[in-house]
Order: sequence, then C-alpha cells, then structure tokens
Amino acid sequence: MTTPNPQLDAHGRLKHFLTIDGLSRELLTEILDQAEGFLGVAQQAVKKVPLCRGKVVANLFFETSTRTRTTFELAAKRLSADVLNLNISTSSTAKGETLLDTLRNLEAMHVDMFVVRHAESGTAHFMAAHAAPHVSIVNAGDGRHAHPTQAMLDMLTIRRHKPDFDQLSVAIVGDILHSRVARSQMLALRTLGVPDVRVIAPRTLLPTRVEEAFGVTAYHDLSEGVRDADVVIMLRIQRERMNSALLPSEHEYFQLFGLTEERLATAKPEAIVMHPGPINRGVEMDSQVADGRRSVILEQVTNGIAVRMAVMSMCLGNQHLGSPSQEEATHA
Ligand code: CP
Repeated sequence: MTTPNPQLDAHGRLKHFLTIDGLSRELLTEILDQAEGFLGVAQQAVKKVPLCRGKVVANLFFETSTRTRTTFELAAKRLSADVLNLNISTSSTAKGETLLDTLRNLEAMHVDMFVVRHAESGTAHFMAAHAAPHVSIVNAGDGRHAHPTQAMLDMLTIRRHKPDFDQLSVAIVGDILHSRVARSQMLALRTLGVPDVRVIAPRTLLPTRVEEAFGVTAYHDLSEGVRDADVVIMLRIQRERMNSALLPSEHEYFQLFGLTEERLATAKPEAIVMHPGPINRGVEMDSQVADGRRSVILEQVTNGIAVRMAVMSMCLGNQHLGSPSQEEATHA
C-alpha cells in the first residue's frame, strides 16, 4: 500500500507545497505553465489579478531571507490576497510560545495559508500535519531538507532558456551537503526528465550515496564537471549549517571550486549560469561571471514571483474545490 502524499488532496490536487518529492512531472509542468502565465502581470499598469481576493496569507520566517520572503509577499499581493508578515523577533515566539500555539492563534484570525521558513528540517510537514483542514502550508525552506519554490523558479528559468528538459546537462556546484536548494533541484530536474544531472563538490560537501539517492553523477573537479553542460548552478557555502571544519578556507575553496570565466570555458558556449542567492562573491564565483552575459541570476529572482503566484493560487484555489468532509465542516 502506498502512503498518501501529504501535500495532495484526495483528488491529487495541490493542497500544501512542502517538497518536490513525490510530485509528478505533470504537476510540476502545470506549476511552470501557470507561472509562465503570471509573468505578464508585472507588465500590467496595475500589477494585480483578483484570484485570491479575500484570502489571508501569513509569512512566518524563523530564518533570515531577502528574496524568498519579499517575493512571497509580492506574489500574494499580486494575487490580491491580504498579507501578514509576522516579525518573529518581536512576536510571542521570543517569549517561548510554541510553533503549534502560534499556528492555532493565527488560524483563529482566519489565516488561509502559512508560508514558513525554519532552520529545522520537517517544520513545514509538521505544520501541515497539525493545521486546520482548510489551511494550506507552503515550505519556504526547512533546514537542509527542501526549498521547493526555489527549485521551481530555477526550473522556470531553465525552461525559458533551454525548453527541452529531455536534452539537458545540468551541473550543480558547491555545498550540496547542506543545501536544501540542491536537494529540491535534483528532484525537480530528474522528475522533469533531465537525463544528465551532475553534482560537483569536495568530498566533504557531498551527502553519502548522493548518486544512488538522486540519480545524479558526482564530480570532484570543476572543469571536468561542467564540461559541455547547458546549465551551471552555483550554490552558497552554508557556514551556518556546518558544525565541523569541512573546508580548509574560503580562499582555497575558490581556488578549486570557484567559478571563473576560464573554468566556465569547458561548458557549452551558450550555457547559462545560475545562483539562488545570496552570492558570496570571490567564494563561489567571481564578479565577472556573476554579472556576465551568461548569468541569469536576477531573472531567477523575477521568476520567483510568478512561480510563487502559481503555487499559492493553486493551493488556495483548490481549497474551494473539494466538498468539505464532515471533519472539515466540524473544524470550521
Ligand atoms: N534563495 C533564497 O532562499 O534566498 P533568501 O535566503 O534571500 O530568501
């Protein structure tokens, strides 16, 4: 017997968005297609559509963020939802209130969706398991585990430059071990049919059995790993998640794994360069590459709004579609 996917409703529609794991190619493609449609909203004189009018979205960011928090807020506002940004440092969390009590209190204010970022892996799943039946949870990054909307905005960016996933070679370079982004990207790329996904890192920054677990190929030499790649994704060195000396120094890391124009020369001439941000210039890549003609890093940020609009509108829209069970009706 297969375990039901906790992020899908009984009809297989998106209710929560917690992880790429277990989602079908069709569903990921639907998110990308919907996001493609939302890109045009930014070009309108009034950058809004009424799809989620009357809905309330709460952003709960227990970890720092620039891109994800602001693009979720913009996405919700462009969908005409009302947005609450809880300031965690001045909220009752600082006085010891549990996550569950915070959830219950905000549910009592009729919040329809929580967007949550947390340092602990599994937080979004935990909230989804305990949320009221009519409430949706969207994972904005949990520990090392998952950052599914980041992966989907990366997939949209790739598809806009390289439309045929079935023909691509994609290299992911850097701190794979600590990266929730890399885990979600590997799952998304393989689900969308990318045949050649490579991970390039020092041995100390690769998870054990990464090749078997994700269907990717591991490399320890940057020029060899990016050879003939169509897409090169650089990752941030996550000092805050390292609990031992896994790197000799950032200077030495750059000498071996930092992306420069010379090292990029083995990739395909029209290869694109990506980075989820924030970038450590001179550690993961030099500024010539970060700001160069092949960099699509700022496009990733723009595409993040459209992808988050797609995910939020699908989850919130699906809340109306299922007829409520007795349990849902009682809870409401
Ligand atoms: N890519 C990403 O998650 O960036 P932020 O930490 O700024 O949200």
